[in-house]
Amino acid sequence: MFRPIWLCVLVLFVKNLTWSSPGQLENRIVNGSNASIRTFSYHVGIEYNGTYLCGGSIVTPRKIVTASHCLIERPFVNLYKVRGATSIVSTGGLIFDVEEIRQHPLFNNKTYDFDVAVLILAVNLTLGPGIRVIPTQPKGVEIPDGYTCVVTGWGAAYWGGNLTKQLQVVTVPKYNTQRCAGFHDSNVTDNMVCFGYEEGGKDACNGDSGGPLVCNGYLGGIVSWGRECALPQKPGVYTKVSNMVDFIFKD
Ligand SMILES: *[C@@H]1O[C@H](CO)[C@@H](O)[C@H](O)[C@H]1NC(C)=O
Ligand SMILES: *[C@@H]1O[C@H](CO)[C@@H](O)[C@H](O)[C@H]1NC(C)=O
Ligand SMILES: *[C@@H]1O[C@H](CO)[C@@H](O)[C@H](O)[C@H]1NC(C)=O
Ligand SMILES: *[C@@H]1O[C@H](CO)[C@@H](O)[C@H](O)[C@H]1NC(C)=O
Ligand SMILES: *[C@@H]1O[C@H](CO)[C@@H](O)[C@H](O)[C@H]1NC(C)=O
Ligand SMILES: *[C@@H]1O[C@H](CO)[C@@H](O)[C@H](O)[C@H]1NC(C)=O
Ligand SMILES: *[C@@H]1O[C@H](CO)[C@@H](O)[C@H](O)[C@H]1NC(C)=O
Repeated sequence: MFRPIWLCVLVLFVKNLTWSSPGQLENRIVNGSNASIRTFSYHVGIEYNGTYLCGGSIVTPRKIVTASHCLIERPFVNLYKVRGATSIVSTGGLIFDVEEIRQHPLFNNKTYDFDVAVLILAVNLTLGPGIRVIPTQPKGVEIPDGYTCVVTGWGAAYWGGNLTKQLQVVTVPKYNTQRCAGFHDSNVTDNMVCFGYEEGGKDACNGDSGGPLVCNGYLGGIVSWGRECALPQKPGVYTKVSNMVDFIFKD
């Protein structure tokens, strides 16, 4: 079955933390390592009504890119906050108000096609240590199979785990799209791109949604969905940023 990456974050935080998780945590993301916001200073946390919601990326001083599915049934613009310049989830750094939320008009909440959204900030970010812009991959660029990119997030270390405190980073290779489609029950559209190892073991997970996948210094993907996390032959699925450039940079 198709399982959006944010599902358990919802369960954890909306259902009053009644959901228990198995095992002991070692690393977060799955098999990642600690990351500093000084290195990944384009990464931000998006909060809704005082609770961590999703990751995001700074693409201009005024625009944050995230996944559209993060915004489902969260219509109140004034409840969104963007937290930058911190390596620790929901703690410290700088907080920015959101003036407008834009889901992609073609976003499909069943298939997650066009899973991209933009948050327009109330003021320009002041760029500095821990806060910088990441360029997006140009329109039409396709990442070659096997090419490795880095994904960052405060998500769980395994399917059903809790959020992490310290930002995590993991390297994942581009996975062949046809092969990826063959292994997933839900459709992998032309607006999606898969990353992961044949044997699994490294992946994004619950709570990483909306966060950046960066290839050679360019934002190439947005954490979108997966079948659980890091399973063999179940690569993670990301929104293909090079197909979303017009939407992202529209005035
Ligand atoms: C990762 O960061 C956490 C929290 O900041 C810290 O407790 C842990 O020791 C760090 N792990 C490594 C391997 O540096
Ligand atoms: C925001 O959170 C408060 C409790 O902290 C809750 O009472 C309220 O219903 C929430 N509002 C929305 C729109 O989720
Ligand atoms: C999902 O999309 C359909 C069709 O656009 C819409 O009718 C429905 O209300 C949406 N569901 C949610 C939870 O946003
Ligand atoms: C915000 O930054 C943009 C460039 O990204 C600039 O054109 C605009 O004047 C700035 N606005 C303010 C209020 O500083
Ligand atoms: C996950 O978070 C809940 C609520 O804070 C806590 O009770 C539980 O022990 C945590 N689980 C792990 C494995 O850390
Ligand atoms: C996948 O796409 C096909 C063809 O467009 C469609 O018939 C099918 O319903 C889709 N499957 C899912 C799970 O969305
Ligand atoms: C982490 O990697 C190890 C070795 O590569 C693997 O055995 C383990 O299953 C991975 N952890 C998860 C949660 O997938």
